[in-house]
Amino acid sequence: MIGFLLLLLLLASCQKFDEVFIEEDLLQRPQAKRCADCHADIYKEWLKSRHAKAWVSEHFKFETENYSKTKCLSCHAPHQVDPDKKPVLRVEFRRDGVSCVACHFKEETMAMHGPLKVWSPPHPSIQDLNYLKSNFCAGCHQETYKEWKLTKVQKSCQSCHMPSLGKKDLIQKFPFHLFHLAKPRTSHEFPSLKAKPDDIQIKIEGKKLLITNVGVPHNLPTADQGEPKFYLVVKATSKDGKVKTIRRILSPQRKNALVYGRPFVITLPFEHIDKVQVEIHRKLAWAKERDLILRKELTP
Ligand code: HEC
Ligand code: HEC
Ligand code: HEC
Ligand code: HEC
Ligand code: HEC
Repeated sequence: MIGFLLLLLLLASCQKFDEVFIEEDLLQRPQAKRCADCHADIYKEWLKSRHAKAWVSEHFKFETENYSKTKCLSCHAPHQVDPDKKPVLRVEFRRDGVSCVACHFKEETMAMHGPLKVWSPPHPSIQDLNYLKSNFCAGCHQETYKEWKLTKVQKSCQSCHMPSLGKKDLIQKFPFHLFHLAKPRTSHEFPSLKAKPDDIQIKIEGKKLLITNVGVPHNLPTADQGEPKFYLVVKATSKDGKVKTIRRILSPQRKNALVYGRPFVITLPFEHIDKVQVEIHRKLAWAKERDLILRKELTP
């Protein structure tokens, strides 16, 4: 009997214990830098990501005529992210862009949702396996998601654009981090990545040059609103030493791209080809510089 009472007492104090550690303002949609009080490493990664720049981006500001095109704003400062749903525009802290709170806090449960099962006294957390699926990204990356779905590749957006960092601490706050074990971490830099030379297969078939995206399960380049570009430069040399250069620019706005598994065809300018040199550069939507993806020389 005494044991039972003691147990009850213990349970009651545990509940109190949780309440004592709750930090109410975390459930009032604070700024992203508030999350950094504990999640310092994740915050530093996110700060480097394009998601953190989605609102303050000079280019975005210009394209929306100083935020006056209201239909443009919701994905760049979302209120709450749900799978497959286009978000609505947030009222507070728009400069945070695609923020921690927008992606993790749910009004329905007044808790942080995430991929893990955790004990987190400062705020309630709910494990939610939707965070591992591509359709979590689909409400905003609408075109890219459609392209990805058509490829039937199983790998999720997260598995490439939120690469695993191994087991690490989720929080860095002393001394609380001592009470938590390291957990699987993923990069919140949301890297844009870069296609590898092997992701793009190039073949000569008769008078045609076939360039095929075999490694990246969405268009190259891909975008909803931004205008990333791929620059193809094909230098063909004929058997009798004539040289001709063919250039193509691929971008979502021009409605052309290296579609996954479908050859992009360029007709070569000579009957008898000696060699073909192919160079592919790309420019991301927000980048000033181009960078080289591949340079290859082929003979028929
Ligand atoms: C609320 C809308 C929204 C959601 C949800 C979202 N993104 Fe984004 N994402 C954006 C916006 C807006 C940008 C562009 C920001 C900028 O550059 O101004 C972006 C940029 C990116 C970029 C950089 C692209 C480039 O051009 O360099 C990557 C990579 C990315 N997102 C991956 C993801 C992944 C993976 C997910 C799902 C886990 C995801 N995003 C979920 C809105 C979203
Ligand atoms: C006072 C400390 C503290 C602050 C501030 C804090 N958290 Fe946490 N959070 C925790 C702890 C503790 C955990 C669990 C850590 C562990 O298990 O290793 C956690 C876990 C999480 C998880 C994982 C949930 C899951 O189920 O995968 C998410 C997501 C999260 N926090 C989001 C946030 C966001 C967003 C903010 C800012 C609004 C924030 N946290 C602010 C302490 C904090
Ligand atoms: C674009 C939406 C998005 C934003 C912005 C975002 N997260 Fe996440 N977060 C995710 C997704 C998706 C996962 C699950 C990734 C996986 O496991 O593949 C995740 C995972 C986590 C986890 C579990 C551990 C880990 O590293 O996977 C924590 C904790 C977390 N996020 C906290 C934060 C905090 C704090 C911020 C802001 C500094 C933030 N997130 C910003 C989408 C986001
Ligand atoms: C197998 C890995 C992989 C998967 C899965 C993947 N991507 Fe990518 N993604 C890449 C690579 C590699 C690039 C870089 C392409 C380049 O060189 O410009 C990229 C580029 C991007 C870009 C930047 C624009 C561009 O054309 O460079 C965005 C935005 C993007 N991906 C979003 C997504 C979304 C959203 C999903 C899920 C629907 C997804 N990606 C799935 C590998 C992947
Ligand atoms: C459905 C969600 C959504 C809406 C609505 C939206 N965007 Fe975006 N925007 C994105 C995503 C996702 C990216 C990142 C990669 C891409 O272009 O798909 C992006 C990237 C951009 C970029 C390139 C990144 C940068 O900062 O330079 C610009 C510019 C941009 N958007 C402008 C606009 C304009 C202008 C509108 C209104 C006509 C608009 N966006 C509406 C989701 C959206």
